[in-house]
This record gives sequence, C-alpha cells and structure tokens, in this order.
Amino acid sequence: MDMQEQSRVETLRWRDDRLEMIDQRILPARFSYLAYTSAAETAEGIRSMVVRGAPAIGCAAAYGVALEAQRLRGSPAGEFAAALDRAFDVLAASRPTAVNLFWALKRMRAVREDMKDANVEAIADRLLAEAHEISAEDIRINRAMGAYGAALLPDGARVLTHCNAGALATAGHGTALGVIRSAVEAGKRISVIADETRPFLQGARLTAWEMVQEGIPVTLITDSMAGFMMARGEVDAVVVGTDRVAANGDVANKIGTYMVAVLARRHGIPFYVACPMSTIDLTVADGSAIPIEERAADEVTGFRECQWAAAGVSVRNPAFDVTPAELVTGLITEKGVVAQPDTGKLLALFSR
Ligand code: MRU
Repeated sequence: MDMQEQSRVETLRWRDDRLEMIDQRILPARFSYLAYTSAAETAEGIRSMVVRGAPAIGCAAAYGVALEAQRLRGSPAGEFAAALDRAFDVLAASRPTAVNLFWALKRMRAVREDMKDANVEAIADRLLAEAHEISAEDIRINRAMGAYGAALLPDGARVLTHCNAGALATAGHGTALGVIRSAVEAGKRISVIADETRPFLQGARLTAWEMVQEGIPVTLITDSMAGFMMARGEVDAVVVGTDRVAANGDVANKIGTYMVAVLARRHGIPFYVACPMSTIDLTVADGSAIPIEERAADEVTGFRECQWAAAGVSVRNPAFDVTPAELVTGLITEKGVVAQPDTGKLLALFSR
C-alpha cells in the first residue's frame, strides 16, 4: 500500500443508501462502522461524537440532509418540505462550535432553494450529489493545505499537535495531520508529539492511532507535559486544526489549544493552524463571540464505568478554547498561508 492509499481512512462512507460512520468513541479498541438512515439519527451521531472534528461534522450534516431526502422519496411535496425543514433544524442543534456544520447546512439549503420548483425525486438526487461533492472537495482541500503546510516544516521537525485533526476529523487526509502526512510524502522525516487531549482523549485514542497505522513516528504525552518538552528544546513546531476562526483571526479549537499556543510563544516555537476556508466565520468579529460547547460532567469525573473524582464535586467541561490571533504564526488554508492573521488579511483572502 502506498502512503496515499494508507491514509485513506474512510471516516464516512455511503453504502446501500445509508450513511456509515466509523464509531470514534470506541477507537482504538475497536474499529467498526455504525449505519444511519435519517437526519435525526445523524444528528445524534454528531452530538454523541461517533463522528467529530469540524470538517467531518460538516460532511455528516450534509449527508444527514441527503438521508432525510432519500427517506422521503415518494412523499407529497408539502410533507417533503416540512420534514426537510425539521432535518435542517435537528442537525443545526447537534453541536454549536464547529462552523463547518452550519457552512455545510447552508450549502445544502442553497441547493434546495435552487431546486424549489423541481419534483421530490430530483431534489433528493441533487442533495445526495451535493453531500458527495462536499466530502470529495474536503479531501482535495486537505491535500492543498497539506502542500502549503508541508513547505513550512523543516526536515527532521518534531511537531506537536493537540486533539485529532486527522483523517478521522475530515473526509480524509486531515488538516493538521494532513500537513504532517504531506510533509512525510514529500520525503521529510517528521515525528509527531501527540497531546493526549483530556477529557475526551482524541490525541491518545485517535491521533496516536492514525500515526501508528501509517508508521509515522509518534510520541504520546499528557497535556501537562507540553511545556516540559518545549523547555527542553524537543518541539520544533506546533500544528493544530480549528473549529472556527473569527474574522480577526482568533482561533477556536479543542480545549487546551490556547495553553499550547501561549507555551509556544514563550519558547519561540511557530504555532500553525490548518484551517480550510469553510472554517473561517466572517460573521463573528472576534473569538469572544464564538459559541463554546459545554459538555457533560462525567467526561471529566471519569471514563465509562470508572469514576475517579469525588462524587458530588462541581465540574466545568468547556470543549473548546480561543487562541488570540496574536499567538498564531500562520493560518494554513487551501488558498495559501496567512502569516499573523488579522481582519484585513482574512477579508483579502476571501476576495482572492
Ligand atoms: O470535540 P471534537 O473532537 O469535535 O474537536 C475537534 C477539534 O477540536 C479539532 O481540532 C478541529 O475540529 C479541527 S479537525 C480538522
């Protein structure tokens, strides 16, 4: 298997008129797909993190709409329209932070709007084609970002990443891990330092799994070890993904990213964010307006049946934080790298 083939983890796939998604909650212990046949089921898959990662959430939402349209084939137009409206609503309520979800739904809405005079079957066909296109496009975008990002990493770089912005977080290749994969494909000797990423352990469970699968050298650390590693001169660059970038370049990403960015600045280490254009939200002026998901307390107090925290303790569990633009060395997009992002540069990027 060549590298391109190996990295083709099919996070989401369309089989026999159903959406199948890798159950990321049980990786790496087990690798299995769950099948989805409606928008409500897909929304639950997003909410419960069967699928996660901003671009993958966007793809899943698009397929959720397509599934609902398939399910309603043969329905009267009025019934079809009302059920599709409910599908958009249930999907939009699944998770709040990753803007790719809303971006994908907007794209699906535009398709529907375009076809408002068409019959139910034609609309259903077109919505499914659009969902397929959103997924295929995601892989192309990740490859373009990968090429731009790979050029930033020197041969031999030890790259720290936080959370999982890999193939599992996208339709394939990954954003931050896509940059690493592309650098490796270009012949660079890259090694990865994966933050464990408490509390959901996307780094330990998913990033480590992806890298081990592909034979890219990876070292797992707990989140609290990043400063130690940087102070010892053992990190050459940080590359992370993002769930939403505000118009001024502030970056929302997995909780703990802000801490890594502060440490990187303290130690003079470049901090890059791999960011498809679909993750930039020009409607929010700065990071303070990005909605931050708060998740259940039991993710912090323990794992599955093992509860380690004192019963009755009060808990906070914000799932994302915001890294101010001033700490970002560069945003790696499919249109190129934006060094030290700000509102002017991001507006210019959209008009390119
Ligand atoms: O809660 P998650 O696992 O959905 O959070 C994922 C992240 O924070 C990723 O870094 C981000 O979505 C970018 S994925 C390419």
